Parts: sequence; C-alpha cells; structure tokens
Amino acid sequence: MTKFLPWSLAIAFLFCVGAAMAQTPDPQSAKSGPGFDVAECQSCHAETLFTNFQHTPHAKKIAGSCAECHGDVAAHAKMKMEGEEGIGPVFSFKRVTPQQRNEKCLSCHEKGRQANWHGGAHDRRKVDCTSCHSVHFFKSQRAQLRTVRESETCYTCHAQVRAQGMRQSHHPIREGKMECGSCHDPHSSTTRGMLKAESVNDLCYSCHADKRGPFFWEHAPVRENCQHCHTPHGSNHERLLVAKQPWLCQRCHMVTRHPGTLYHGLNATSGPTASNRAIEHGCRNCHNAVHGTNHPGSPYLGR
Ligand code: HEC
Ligand code: HEC
Ligand code: HEC
Ligand code: HEC
Ligand code: HEC
Ligand code: HEC
Ligand code: HEC
Ligand code: HEC
Ligand code: HEC
Ligand code: HEC
Repeated sequence: MTKFLPWSLAIAFLFCVGAAMAQTPDPQSAKSGPGFDVAECQSCHAETLFTNFQHTPHAKKIAGSCAECHGDVAAHAKMKMEGEEGIGPVFSFKRVTPQQRNEKCLSCHEKGRQANWHGGAHDRRKVDCTSCHSVHFFKSQRAQLRTVRESETCYTCHAQVRAQGMRQSHHPIREGKMECGSCHDPHSSTTRGMLKAESVNDLCYSCHADKRGPFFWEHAPVRENCQHCHTPHGSNHERLLVAKQPWLCQRCHMVTRHPGTLYHGLNATSGPTASNRAIEHGCRNCHNAVHGTNHPGSPYLGR
C-alpha cells in the first residue's frame, strides 16, 4: 500500500505546479493591472477569483481589470501584505450605496439598453445592477445573472408574479419556453411597465400577429387594450381571461337588445319569457369572433 504514496504525492505536486502555471498571468495579458499582479490578489482572494470570472469579458477585455472596478488595489495589496487592518482605498461594492454601485457599472455600460436606466421603476426603488447581476459569482449562461434561469432572478423579489404563473392558464414560463425578459426590459425607463414595446397591444401583437387586424368589424376594447379581458401573468380562468363567462362580457354589456343580465326577470331559463340566450349564456357561443372579424355580414362578431 505505502509504496504508492510517494507516487501519488508526486502526481499531486505536478498537478499543483501545472495549475499554478496556468494561473500565472501573462505579463502582456489584459488581466495584470498597473502597479500590481493578479497573482498577488489570488493568494488571498482565491474563492472570489477561482470562479467563472476568468472567462468573462470583464477579465478578458478590460486592461487592469481589478482596478477598473475596485480602485486603488495596488495600495490595498501592499498594506494587506504588510499586515495592516482594514481594506484601505479599495472600492468595496458591499460598503457603498446602490447609487454608487450603479455609477460604477454605468461608467462603462452607459450605452445600449442600459442608457435608459435612470428613472426606471427599478432605479427609483434602489434596485441596483448587482441585485440581478454578479461579476464573480453568477450562475446563468447568459448575461451573468445570479440564478441559472433568468426568471428565477426576478422571482427573488416578484413572488406575486411567480404565484400568478402557477395558475392553470399562464404564458409558458415555467415550461421554460419564455422568460420575463420576453416581454420586459428590466433596465428600461422609457416604456410603461418596462415593456419591450411602446404599448401593451404592440407587445401582444409581436407574438400574436393574427390579433393585429385591422378587421372589417372591430371590437373596440380589443383595439384599446388586450388587458380589458386578459391578464399577462396567469389566471384560473381559461385563456388567461380576467373573468368567467358571461361576466367577462357583462362588465361592459349590461344592456343589450337581448337579455344580458343573468339574474334578470326577462332572462328566465323557463316559462313564457324563456330566452335561448340566457340558456346559452356563454356569450361567445354566438359571438365567436371576439377579437374582430373580416366577415362582411357579421357586425355582431358572430363569425
Ligand atoms: C495579504 C492578503 C491580501 C492581498 C494580497 C489582497 N487582498 Fe484584498 N482583501 C484582503 C482582506 C483580508 C480583505 C478584507 C475582507 C473582508 O473584510 O471581507 C480584503 C478586501 C478586498 C476587497 C473588498 C471586498 C469587499 O467587497 O468587502 C477587494 C475589492 C479586494 N480586497 C481586492 C483585492 C485586489 C484586487 C487585490 C490584488 C491587487 C487584493 N485584494 C490583494 C486581503 C488581501
Ligand atoms: C466589472 C467590475 C469588476 C471587476 C473587473 C472585478 N470585480 Fe471584484 N467585485 C465586483 C462586484 C460587483 C463585487 C460584488 C460581488 C459580486 O456581485 O460579484 C465584487 C466583489 C469582489 C470581492 C469581494 C468578494 C466577496 O466575497 O464578497 C473581491 C475580493 C474582489 N471583488 C476582488 C476582485 C479582483 C481580485 C479582481 C481582479 C482580478 C476583481 N475583483 C475584478 C466587481 C468587479
Ligand atoms: C471598465 C469597464 C466596465 C465596468 C466598470 C463594468 N463593465 Fe460590464 N462589461 C464591460 C465590457 C467591455 C463588456 C463586454 C461587452 C462587449 O463585449 O460588448 C462587459 C460585459 C458585461 C455583461 C455581459 C456579459 C456577457 O456574458 O456577455 C454584463 C452583464 C456586465 N458587463 C455587467 C456589469 C456590471 C453589473 C458592472 C458593475 C458591477 C459592470 N458590468 C461594470 C466593461 C465594464
Ligand atoms: C432587475 C434585474 C436587472 C437589473 C437591476 C439590471 N439588469 Fe442587466 N440584465 C438583466 C437581464 C435579465 C439581462 C439579460 C436578459 C435580457 O436580454 O433581457 C440583462 C442583460 C444585461 C447586459 C448584457 C447586454 C445587454 O444589454 O443585453 C448588460 C451589459 C447589463 N445587463 C448591464 C446592467 C447594468 C449596468 C445594470 C445597472 C445599471 C443592470 N444591468 C441592471 C437584468 C437586470
Ligand atoms: C432586488 C429586487 C428585484 C428584482 C431582483 C427584480 N425586481 Fe422588478 N421591481 C422591484 C421593485 C422594488 C419594483 C417597484 C415595485 C413597485 O413600485 O411596486 C419593481 C418593479 C418591476 C416592474 C414594474 C415596472 C413598472 O413600471 O411598474 C417590472 C415590470 C419588473 N419589476 C420586472 C422585473 C423583471 C423582469 C425582473 C427580473 C429580470 C425583476 N423585475 C427583478 C424589485 C426587483
Ligand atoms: C406575455 C408578456 C409578459 C410576460 C412573459 C411577463 N410579463 Fe410582467 N407584465 C406584462 C404586462 C402587459 C404588464 C402590464 C403593464 C402595464 O399595464 O403597465 C406587466 C406588468 C408587470 C409588473 C407590474 C405589476 C403587475 O403585477 O402588474 C411586474 C412587477 C411584472 N410584470 C413582472 C414580471 C415578471 C417577474 C415576469 C416573469 C415571471 C413577467 N412580468 C412576465 C407582460 C408580461
Ligand atoms: C414573446 C411572445 C409573446 C408575447 C409578447 C405575448 N405572448 Fe401570449 N402566448 C405566447 C406563447 C408562446 C403562448 C402559448 C401558446 C401555446 O401554448 O400554444 C401564448 C399564449 C397566450 C394565450 C392563450 C393562453 C392559454 O391558456 O391558452 C393568450 C390569451 C395570450 N397568449 C395573450 C397574450 C397577451 C394578452 C399578450 C400581451 C400582453 C401576449 N399574449 C403577449 C407568446 C407571447
Ligand atoms: C373583449 C374581450 C377580449 C379582448 C379585449 C381580447 N381578447 Fe383575446 N380572448 C378573448 C376570449 C373570450 C378568448 C377565448 C376564445 C376562445 O377560446 O376561442 C380569447 C382568446 C385569446 C387567445 C387564445 C386563443 C386564440 O384565439 O389564439 C389569444 C392568443 C388572445 N385571446 C390574444 C388577445 C390579444 C393579443 C388581445 C389584444 C389585441 C386580446 N386577446 C384581446 C377575449 C378577449
Ligand atoms: C371593456 C369593455 C368591453 C368588454 C369587456 C366587452 N365588450 Fe363588446 N363592445 C364594447 C364596446 C365599447 C363595443 C362597441 C359598441 C358600439 O360601437 O356601440 C362593443 C361591441 C360589441 C359587439 C358588437 C355590437 C355592436 O353594437 O356593434 C358585440 C357583439 C360584442 N361587443 C360582444 C362582446 C362579447 C361577446 C364580449 C365578451 C367576450 C364583449 N363584447 C366584451 C366593449 C366591451
Ligand atoms: C344564442 C346566441 C346569442 C347569445 C348566447 C348571446 N348573443 Fe348577443 N346577439 C346575438 C344576436 C343574433 C345578435 C344580433 C342582434 C339581435 O338579434 O338582437 C346579438 C347582439 C348582441 C349585441 C349588439 C346589439 C345590442 O343589443 O347592443 C351585443 C352587445 C351582444 N349581443 C352581447 C352579448 C352578450 C354580452 C352576451 C352574453 C351575456 C350575448 N350577447 C349572448 C346572439 C347571441
């Protein structure tokens, strides 16, 4: 048994040397910053740096990477190696305000979608870049998010939306076919509800093009806002509807030429005033084309 021990030690030793060589930064590489060597940082901050950080654009594309985000790291390394207390002049994301964190990130990310950050709902409520993103400890494949799936990051604060998504009728987020980001841009300040479109309807049309029209016979509320009848995150009524039939329609159509109200003297289901429209009170049994129709002879949205 024991005679294998020296061998395994030797192999372990070679492995360590190999690993150390692989981590020693190339002096030309963008990783080594002015006045310090990343290897110095690694000796004390192994846990932070032996993460997937090395493979990110932050490590690869930014010259003097640590210093760009953490300030005077050379002075910090020097004082720590001399055994001094505290962290010195280094910029610690933990110890600053959300605004200061955002300023740091926005100093490079001031373009693209992040250009619209200021004044958005997240900015106003002091949610900051690192609430969703992590530079060193991210878990997602894309965009360095704190969770494997994008929507999980959102659920850490939006528990109510998650609960709605568990209802019977829902957009296929929990099936993994969509994310919150299919409809929202969490950086936005320019659109209502941080939507990825100018209006609710434009958003819905982008995937449900058949509802866009124009139709020969329009149904006014459909043009105005899909949310008159649908809720985007989940519903216990079929088809993401906000109410059950016939109440869905009767919220607006209390008075029609035929009886609309269910519990109404003229709306009996038997006797002399029996109405087939009360019996068949599911309005869309007859008014089938609720979203509008191109059938010229169908002003009442029958087909
Ligand atoms: C001799 C050990 C040592 C060396 C070398 C060292 N540090 Fe530190 N560093 C520390 C200690 C200890 C802390 C305090 C940790 C704490 O309070 O959580 C610290 C804190 C920090 C922090 C603040 C962490 C936070 O958010 O609270 C940053 C950033 C940092 N170091 C970056 C660097 C960088 C970059 C280098 C290389 C240039 C470096 N350090 C080299 C020991 C060291
Ligand atoms: C793009 C900006 C950025 C760069 C580049 C960067 N960091 Fe950080 N660092 C952060 C942020 C943000 C945090 C807060 C934790 C997180 O969300 O990842 C952090 C946290 C830390 C911490 C504290 C870790 C903890 O346990 O809380 C240390 C130590 C640290 N960084 C060291 C380094 C070193 C060393 C480098 C260079 C090799 C470096 N950082 C490069 C942004 C950066
Ligand atoms: C010194 C400039 C700089 C700073 C500061 C900076 N970044 Fe970056 N970041 C970059 C560059 C460069 C890229 C690569 C962009 C590209 O290639 O288009 C990048 C890419 C990213 C990406 C996309 C990663 C991917 O996988 O494509 C995210 C997310 C990101 N940064 C978040 C942050 C956050 C959060 C902060 C603040 C903690 C921050 N950045 C601070 C320069 C910076
Ligand atoms: C509420 C969560 C959240 C906050 C806060 C947040 N982001 Fe993002 N970010 C995301 C998500 C989710 C993605 C990727 C999905 C997508 O494309 O919509 C992303 C993508 C990115 C990207 C990748 C490139 C791009 O635009 O597609 C960068 C860079 C970025 N964010 C930077 C930032 C910066 C800088 C801040 C702070 C000013 C910030 N983010 C705040 C959730 C957030
Ligand atoms: C750190 C907590 C946090 C995280 C993580 C978070 N949010 Fe938020 N979000 C908030 C807060 C706080 C508000 C403001 C709520 C309010 O005003 O009632 C908000 C508001 C919103 C709004 C409403 C905007 C408006 O104009 O009314 C949307 C949409 C939203 N978040 C989407 C997202 C998405 C998508 C994600 C994931 C990519 C996400 N949020 C992640 C905290 C968070
Ligand atoms: C099919 C598109 C769609 C998807 C997917 C979606 N949303 Fe929304 N969301 C909307 C619409 C539309 C609104 C209403 C905007 C308005 O009327 O201002 C909204 C509103 C919100 C609001 C504002 C408050 C509220 O509850 O009405 C929050 C917060 C929110 N969404 C978070 C999320 C989160 C988190 C996810 C992922 C689980 C998500 N959304 C997925 C379309 C969507
Ligand atoms: C990013 C694409 C996308 C956007 C934007 C979108 N949807 Fe959907 N919608 C889908 C997908 C995918 C399904 C599931 C289709 C399926 O299962 O066959 C769906 C299903 C539906 C359903 C049927 C649900 C059921 O239980 O059968 C309704 C109703 C609906 N969407 C309404 C809306 C409304 C209203 C909006 C705007 C607030 C909207 N959608 C925005 C992609 C989208
Ligand atoms: C007046 C109420 C009402 C409005 C407003 C409305 N819908 Fe609907 N929608 C319904 C009803 C009722 C159903 C169920 C019809 C069925 O199952 O045949 C439905 C079903 C759907 C479906 C699933 C079945 C299908 O036809 O594909 C989608 C998708 C949908 N609506 C999208 C939209 C969009 C997008 C808007 C806005 C442009 C919108 N709806 C506005 C009442 C409405
Ligand atoms: C948010 C309010 C609202 C809801 C909910 C609603 N409607 Fe309407 N509906 C209207 C308005 C407004 C008109 C246009 C009335 C006009 O031009 O006189 C209309 C027109 C109609 C017409 C054509 C009649 C005419 O006089 O042109 C029919 C049929 C109709 N709706 C059926 C339905 C059905 C069935 C539902 C339920 C699936 C429903 N509506 C839900 C507001 C609504
Ligand atoms: C049995 C078939 C049937 C049912 C069920 C039905 N309708 Fe009608 N509806 C019609 C017909 C046919 C017309 C054409 C006008 C007429 O003959 O009175 C009409 C006309 C209408 C009109 C336009 C004329 C007016 O009176 O303003 C509205 C609005 C309407 N229906 C709403 C509804 C609503 C809301 C429900 C559900 C509570 C409903 N309908 C159920 C067949 C039906």
